[in-house]
Amino acid sequence: MNPRGRIISVEGIDAVGKSTQSLLLETWFRDQGRRVTSLSFPDYDTPIGKEIKAFLGGGRDFGPEVRHMLFAANRWEKASLIRRSRLENEAIIVNRYTESNLVYGLANGLRLGWLAGLERGIPRSDLVVVLDAPSRGVASRRPGPKDSYEKDLELQARVQTLYRELAPKFGWVVIDGSKSVGRVHDSVVQTVKDNLDLGAKS
Ligand code: TMP
Repeated sequence: MNPRGRIISVEGIDAVGKSTQSLLLETWFRDQGRRVTSLSFPDYDTPIGKEIKAFLGGGRDFGPEVRHMLFAANRWEKASLIRRSRLENEAIIVNRYTESNLVYGLANGLRLGWLAGLERGIPRSDLVVVLDAPSRGVASRRPGPKDSYEKDLELQARVQTLYRELAPKFGWVVIDGSKSVGRVHDSVVQTVKDNLDLGAKS
């Protein structure tokens, strides 16, 4: 029997390297012969995800409460799939999860308790890895059009500070994301080994 799979969220400001590191971690798990699956939020393909895409692209003008309720609702759309994945896989890597909404919601002036309430009942992360790098340094890393949150450099700076402030309170592990891709990956793997008891390979 497969014990409950472990949920690992990869967090941090925009363009800090979450997608790259999530992919590398997935490959690492596979190379270990372990069953792993990957998810990413926002999931822009769902009905709620399309609304999120619309407001991030400037096509809808919602206030912060509605925006952050939609981010949470987007996870609720996937909650049963996440529960199923936990039974089928040893690890579930999530590129942005509930923690993003706490941090970005707070940075947008919402209350932590209210934001946490929106996420209550969604499977919780077993390990949260925060990739940390100065927001100004990473803003130029990703070419192409930026969404409304990415364009807002003050928001990005607030978000970076909030990740650092909330990490000790919630037990999130902060990793220096300004190093080379390979060195960051090594730190992520070490963090997984140090913090998760994955048990014997099944
Ligand atoms: P993305 O660039 O990773 O696709 O995410 C788009 C923006 O949405 C990003 O600036 C962070 C924000 N966000 C939240 O505010 N709350 C959430 O729950 C998620 C998943 C993302």
